[in-house]
Amino acid sequence: MVDQGEIVFMDRVSLRYQEGVSVLKSLSLHLFPRSFHFLTGLSGAGKSSLLRLLYLGLRPTAGTLKVFGADVQKVSAQEASLIRRRVGVVFQDFNLIEHLSVLENVMLPLKVRNEHPSARQEQARELLSWVGLEEYMDTLPKHLSGGQRQRVAIARAVVGRPDLLLADEPTGNVDDKMAQKLFHLFDGLHKMGTCVVIATHSRHFVDIFPYPELHLENGRLIPCSKKNDPTHLGIL
Ligand SMILES: Nc1ncnc2c1ncn2[C@@H]1O[C@H](COP(=O)(O)OP(=O)(O)O)[C@@H](O)[C@H]1O
Ligand SMILES: [Mg+2]
Repeated sequence: MVDQGEIVFMDRVSLRYQEGVSVLKSLSLHLFPRSFHFLTGLSGAGKSSLLRLLYLGLRPTAGTLKVFGADVQKVSAQEASLIRRRVGVVFQDFNLIEHLSVLENVMLPLKVRNEHPSARQEQARELLSWVGLEEYMDTLPKHLSGGQRQRVAIARAVVGRPDLLLADEPTGNVDDKMAQKLFHLFDGLHKMGTCVVIATHSRHFVDIFPYPELHLENGRLIPCSKKNDPTHLGIL
């Protein structure tokens, strides 16, 4: 179950890679349970970097970031891995386990949580069918196309009904019809209680779903034309 409080608390967070320029500049953001946000911005704006911060894959250079109430600057490696178990993630490189079948990849989050093997199989099979991969359950990831791998990663990210879903351009490799199905999958998860953040270039979906847009430009989150109420956007 999610906490009553914020899922993400970000106060004046900045990120800089080594000696480079600041990629993210003093961002403040609150994400609450059951919220849904699109994350937009030009290529290089920092969308992937922001998602990596939220997954505890990077630490802020400055500022305070709390995920599920835990200060990411202070958590131990063990605490970080417990936090990550509550997060479903679709990164652009998919991170599939190459020696496991498609079905085994998707069952992994349920295995980690010690769910009953038959329940694991049922849920994973159901999702794989939904994303059009029923023919590929026993296939190894290396035999799949980019779009198929992306769908495996998505099924794995959502199968455990995580408290937080982070997806980085999750429909970049699929056709429009499949993209629509996937956005409805994310929306369904959101309606069941997951806090969802999706980085996307698909203007069409940003426009048709009634969810706020976090727009990154020059390292800052700016209110955008869709719904420019900063409170609604979660920006302080
Ligand atoms: N590991 C890294 N080391 C150094 N610079 C990086 C690294 N990852 C991303 N960057 C830089 O950070 C900026 C934002 O990148 P990124 O977060 O990938 O943006 P987006 O996902 O919006 O395209 C870019 O200028 C990129 O070159
Ligand atoms: Mg990116």
